[in-house]
Amino acid sequence: MKRIPEPFRIKMVEPIKMTTEADRREALTVAGNNPFLLKSEDVYIDLLTDSGTGAMSANQWAALMVGDEAYAGSRSFVKLEESVQTLFRYKHVIPVHQGRGAEQILFPNMVKQKVAEHAHNERKCDKPVFISNYHFDTTAAHIEMSGAKPINVLTPEALATSAWYDFKGNFDLEALQATIDNYGRENVVGIIITITCNSSGGQPVSMANINAVTAIAKANGILVVIDSARFAENAYFIKQREPGFADKAIGDIIRSMFVDADIFTMSAKKDPMVNMGGLCCFKDDSQLELFKTVQVTCVAMEGFITYGGLNGRDMEALSVGLWECADEDFLEYRIGQVAYLGELLREAGIPIQYPTGGHAVFIDAGKMLPHIPAEQFPAHALANRIYIEGGIRGVEIGSLLLGRDPSTGKQKPSPLELLRLTIPRRVYTNDHMKYIADCIIAIKHDSKNIKGLTFEYEPPVLRHFTARLKVLNK
Ligand code: F0G
Repeated sequence: MKRIPEPFRIKMVEPIKMTTEADRREALTVAGNNPFLLKSEDVYIDLLTDSGTGAMSANQWAALMVGDEAYAGSRSFVKLEESVQTLFRYKHVIPVHQGRGAEQILFPNMVKQKVAEHAHNERKCDKPVFISNYHFDTTAAHIEMSGAKPINVLTPEALATSAWYDFKGNFDLEALQATIDNYGRENVVGIIITITCNSSGGQPVSMANINAVTAIAKANGILVVIDSARFAENAYFIKQREPGFADKAIGDIIRSMFVDADIFTMSAKKDPMVNMGGLCCFKDDSQLELFKTVQVTCVAMEGFITYGGLNGRDMEALSVGLWECADEDFLEYRIGQVAYLGELLREAGIPIQYPTGGHAVFIDAGKMLPHIPAEQFPAHALANRIYIEGGIRGVEIGSLLLGRDPSTGKQKPSPLELLRLTIPRRVYTNDHMKYIADCIIAIKHDSKNIKGLTFEYEPPVLRHFTARLKVLNK
């Protein structure tokens, strides 16, 4: 497969400690067979996440030096506001410390507003829900903490991992409409469009699907929020795959994606390549009351409305990053690098979510290790084996992450058992990708001997982060 070379040269390097297989076996045992508990020093290539792990550019580092650290009305905030207004055409900008900062100041206020709107109606808002293509974990958690229920209506094509489908992040539009009808439109607080759809493999949502979702929302008087951590990657996929967009500029595609939504939240730790930062933005004055309430909550929880938990210098770096991530040459290389790793694996017969998405290659561990049942966590077993082989740290997205149903205590059924190899932006070279593929291909012949795991210690909530596991001997 053609490799798209890095559109940058390297000015500063961070040496990585090299380890032996014996070192890694020891480190994994100490970490309770849970890669989350490894020291990053013991990891050669860290593919746990693309969040806050990108490499800032020379321009971003330079921008740090001109940060204005004023408590209120900082020049750096004004610059950030102008960048958002130009790139997205959204009027009101609230900086926050990261994506979940936006979620915690927005969702409870949306729920309160919806409940208040329908307080005197016959059909009361008594079971508030949010509907999304797929809620990210923290998004779902914040919705639940606001007293609402998150419902996912992802296109079924996303589950057929080996079959090509251009937009595996799309909403199932019929299921969306049916869910609105089932709960009643007065109970639907918001529709959340996650671009790209992290949980289905960093998969894009098409412009046609976004337009159809916003039209359904409008017809039913429901607000649309875009969860936009990987907005530029989504725009690039639209340009590549959707008829009518090949000649459009990425900036124009971004503005079209956002034009009919009301609000966007953003973890700026992904596409905009800052180590920490986020946004909560409102399109215009149509939700002015909600915007003002969210601002007040921001002051209490994140920080004053012109810094929201960020340093002035962080806002400077973010302003630069918003533009850099939307650069087409960069996106071609970025998406190309992820596809390159995916193709190397696929050519060698490793089952992956295909086509590859924007930020990660997802290995279908359920297919690769069919002898390990879901309750023995095949993707986690594969993560551990890959770490031992090459010092590569991936993350399980499957039954271990999903956890138990709180009411029955039973394992929730996971539609897929995936291992996510998440590629940080501008950090690893194509040679690193080749090394990762070589390590995974090397263990393929031995995959029958990979054993499942069981808990030694199972935390009651968010268990995958701190669980300790032991390898089963059958
Ligand atoms: N929304 C999406 C789609 C995300 O992927 C994330 C984070 C968030 C919201 C929350 O943002 O971390 O800045 O608070 N995803 C990371 C990941 C953690 O590894 O996929 P945050």
